[in-house]
Amino acid sequence: MNTEKGSVYALLLLFLLQGSTGLDILSQNNTIRDGNLLVSSGKKFALGFFSPGNSSHRYVGIWYYQVSEQTVVWVANRERPINGTSGALSIDSDGNLVLHETNGSFLVWSTNVSYALSNYSTTARLMDSGNLVLVQDFSERMIWQSFDYPTDTMLPFMKLGLNRKTGLNRFLTSWKSPEDPTPGNCSYRIDPTGYPQLLLYKDGDPYWRAGSWTGDRWSGVPEITRAYIFNISFVNDQDEVSIMYGVIDALIITRMVVSESGSVRRSTWHDGDRRWIEYWFAPKDQCDFYGNCGPNSNCNPYDPAHFECTCLLGLEPKSPGDWNLGDGLAGCVRRGGVSVCRSGEGFVKVARVKVPDTSKARANMSLNLKECKEECLRDCSCTAYASASESLGGSGCLTWHGNLVDTRTFADSGQDLYIRVDAIELARYRKTRSLSQKATAAIILVSIFTALLLASSFLYLLVIKKRKDHRSHNPLVSDMRTNSTYLDGPQTVKDHDDEPRGNRDVPLFDLSTIASATNNFSVLNKLGQGGFGSVYKGIMDSGLEMAVKRLSKLSGQGAEEFKNEVRLIAKLQHRNLVRILGCCVEEDEKMLIYEYLPNKSLDAFLFDKTRRSLLDWRKRFEITSGLARGLLYLHQDSRLRIIHRDLKASNVLLDEAMNPKISDFGMARICGADQIQGNTDHVVGTYGYMSPEYAMGGIFSIKSDVYSFGVLLLEIISGKRNSAYYHENPSSNLVGHAWELWKEGNCKDFIDESMGDSCSKEEALRCIQIGLLCVQEFADDRPNMSAVVFMLANNDVALAFPKRPAYVFKSKYHGANLSSSDGMTSVNDVTISEVEGR
Ligand SMILES: *[C@@H]1O[C@H](CO)[C@@H](O)[C@H](O)[C@H]1NC(C)=O
Ligand SMILES: *[C@@H]1O[C@H](CO)[C@@H](O)[C@H](O)[C@H]1NC(C)=O
Ligand SMILES: *[C@@H]1O[C@H](CO)[C@@H](O)[C@H](O)[C@H]1NC(C)=O
Ligand SMILES: *[C@@H]1O[C@H](CO)[C@@H](O)[C@H](O)[C@H]1NC(C)=O
Ligand SMILES: *[C@@H]1O[C@H](CO)[C@@H](O)[C@H](O)[C@H]1NC(C)=O
Ligand SMILES: *[C@@H]1O[C@H](CO)[C@@H](O)[C@H](O)[C@H]1NC(C)=O
Ligand SMILES: *[C@@H]1O[C@H](CO)[C@@H](O)[C@H](O)[C@H]1NC(C)=O
Ligand SMILES: *[C@@H]1O[C@H](CO)[C@@H](O)[C@H](O)[C@H]1NC(C)=O
Ligand SMILES: *[C@@H]1O[C@H](CO)[C@@H](O)[C@H](O)[C@H]1NC(C)=O
Repeated sequence: MNTEKGSVYALLLLFLLQGSTGLDILSQNNTIRDGNLLVSSGKKFALGFFSPGNSSHRYVGIWYYQVSEQTVVWVANRERPINGTSGALSIDSDGNLVLHETNGSFLVWSTNVSYALSNYSTTARLMDSGNLVLVQDFSERMIWQSFDYPTDTMLPFMKLGLNRKTGLNRFLTSWKSPEDPTPGNCSYRIDPTGYPQLLLYKDGDPYWRAGSWTGDRWSGVPEITRAYIFNISFVNDQDEVSIMYGVIDALIITRMVVSESGSVRRSTWHDGDRRWIEYWFAPKDQCDFYGNCGPNSNCNPYDPAHFECTCLLGLEPKSPGDWNLGDGLAGCVRRGGVSVCRSGEGFVKVARVKVPDTSKARANMSLNLKECKEECLRDCSCTAYASASESLGGSGCLTWHGNLVDTRTFADSGQDLYIRVDAIELARYRKTRSLSQKATAAIILVSIFTALLLASSFLYLLVIKKRKDHRSHNPLVSDMRTNSTYLDGPQTVKDHDDEPRGNRDVPLFDLSTIASATNNFSVLNKLGQGGFGSVYKGIMDSGLEMAVKRLSKLSGQGAEEFKNEVRLIAKLQHRNLVRILGCCVEEDEKMLIYEYLPNKSLDAFLFDKTRRSLLDWRKRFEITSGLARGLLYLHQDSRLRIIHRDLKASNVLLDEAMNPKISDFGMARICGADQIQGNTDHVVGTYGYMSPEYAMGGIFSIKSDVYSFGVLLLEIISGKRNSAYYHENPSSNLVGHAWELWKEGNCKDFIDESMGDSCSKEEALRCIQIGLLCVQEFADDRPNMSAVVFMLANNDVALAFPKRPAYVFKSKYHGANLSSSDGMTSVNDVTISEVEGR
């Protein structure tokens, strides 16, 4: 009796299961009705009928089977909704997939493949990639796939772009609204004209330009430097121009969507939290909007005090009235009566930009940069040139002929653009450069003189006046705030602390001097090995001690650029930054000379059983506050806005009084981050300290530094090293451990016992909370450094309750190297660029 009942239930269950979750194939004999599903064999995607939002319309679509929030990635009948539940999907007699309404009487949608008109039957199969394919049974040939007709979502392994042979163009189109999948106003597509580029269109006009392909990324998306989850392949040949993303770890669920409101957004599904985590979107700032500054000008959003548009060198606003009112749309034109054709003209470099619209540009991939310049110089219509595949060692030549549209500056990376200027402008540009060098030298001499004679006031005032005059007459400084402006111009350094102001030039050391100071780079002098090269201790004949960083030879920067960047970085002076004393560029060697700090790095104390007792609570709090101020200084200098990218205990040096000094800042600029990443295919950074958006998407921002600071803060309080992350067991790392204890209210257990009674429990708990705020999963939730400094300085300010930290990080790259082990020093820290080797 019982068994009979049981089997009836089992049968019923089987029936229900088959009714709702069917197979992954649809053949000529069966039909999918509203309520039935086709599920891919690995249970990743499902196909069936759905209603978006509160809409009553029914659509056939594909969504993630395992994602609890129904997320539709493809819709068949976007424009022809079905009114009731009478829809049915089947394969008709000519092998096409068809959607009928009202018991087969009304055709709503069809794959409409004409060559399927044969007597051979077909089968539709839903793949684990989310692709619905229609295959001819006889030949096993694929005659149609949903990936060729994308809607608003790009999935891994989906191709976007033009098949030049068939004319098929695959691109994304937004929905009209969250309740209506009808094609909306925005599309994201490859424009194959000129030199192909990827563009977001709104109402048919370019809205944001991801730009052209530079070898490993899009010129307009430099922040995605290297993706651990993606494997991007770009193809541009006579058959097709297309892009495809692969995922390296098949378990990662990720998508890119064009939203109704006009943005491109990337997100990954977070299983633990059951929600989508957005980790990137564009457009972001004013300068992202296509042609924001009109033709022939550059957009630089990093100086909020000024209008973001500036005319390129040698040009002037076309409509000065509007320009002065902050409307740059009219753009710039060449000054009247000036010739740039065979009359001594030349080129000036504009650094770190998104190169202009390439739809009218010409490309010749067989030329190098020097030949490119010659080519451009020969052709009087050529207004600018740049390397076509900069990240692949600079081969290829792009030339523009006519207006330069949609150029913008990036803070930390980007391409170099060379613009054509007339002879007078070129001479003025060169003269200003050498003049300002002389001016700087003069100022130094005068300063020394002044100091010696103590006749400071009079002379000093004179110098200041001279500098001011020079500044206001300097056409570079007043006309053009692009990066090339700052190569040598007199600088003032905004310093929050009471350090001397830096106007000195950076001394150049001889290779022979450095070699003898370091005993010819003897192993005995080696202090350590970092991501960018080895560090040696050197002693000059004068007795001056210094740390010499010998950069690995792969750095692609030219000598001049290197010196310029060092000069800029050396001007960042703060009591919590290690001071750069000079540099050495000779033969193919590039070296940075730093002040020598005898106490080594923070990790040598923090993670050492005996030495850690030297760091009582007071000291640790001071170190934390100093680090926060140093980092704030790096982030806030509006001109440079340095993102450290590799903040960790071994990059914090201590002076005799145990004051912390951040080292290795600005390395991305000094070494030309682009080249380094192009060469090694790896981001700069250290696992364990890297924020999830950086580790997984290769996206960096000042908030990635805040994340690293949070990890460091937790290490300082606990005296324990943050180890590698495991998604499965969050409490196996320090951040997860801190979070668990915090939730339980047991934070006291987290505090390093070796601090003994010196520790103010209240302050320490506050610091743990601040640390947890810094490591929150969403970059937007994390405070910026000025908020951190404020929170550290004001004990009575209430702190926000931290949200869950990031556990999404799951990586197969880390090894046992990062395991937490007390008593070890920086040998344990593995910098990514080393792990995968050069
Ligand atoms: C479809 O049904 C016909 C007749 O009922 C049968 O001969 C054929 O094998 C079936 N095809 C499939 C693919 O099941
Ligand atoms: C559906 O309707 C409910 C109640 O009117 C509303 O709260 C909800 O936001 C709507 N959902 C969508 C997706 O519009
Ligand atoms: C759905 O209903 C609307 C009106 O309610 C009607 O105009 C439309 O033709 C119907 N669509 C189909 C496909 O039957
Ligand atoms: C559609 O067919 C079902 C059974 O197959 C029947 O119950 C229903 O009444 C039919 N609807 C129409 C509009 O013919
Ligand atoms: C199928 O394609 C033909 C031309 O290729 C077109 O005229 C027809 O409207 C299409 N039918 C459907 C249902 O899309
Ligand atoms: C299919 O059509 C071809 C010619 O078009 C014919 O030779 C073949 O016999 C047909 N096959 C069947 C199963 O009807
Ligand atoms: C899309 O374009 C239409 C017509 O151009 C306009 O009425 C509508 O507001 C636009 N929608 C959005 C979301 O911009
Ligand atoms: C990455 O791309 C390359 C070239 O397209 C391909 O050979 C490789 O299999 C891809 N790897 C993954 C994991 O997708
Ligand atoms: C590229 O430049 C080379 C050398 O000047 C020339 O021979 C070749 O024709 C050029 N190719 C194109 C496509 O212009």
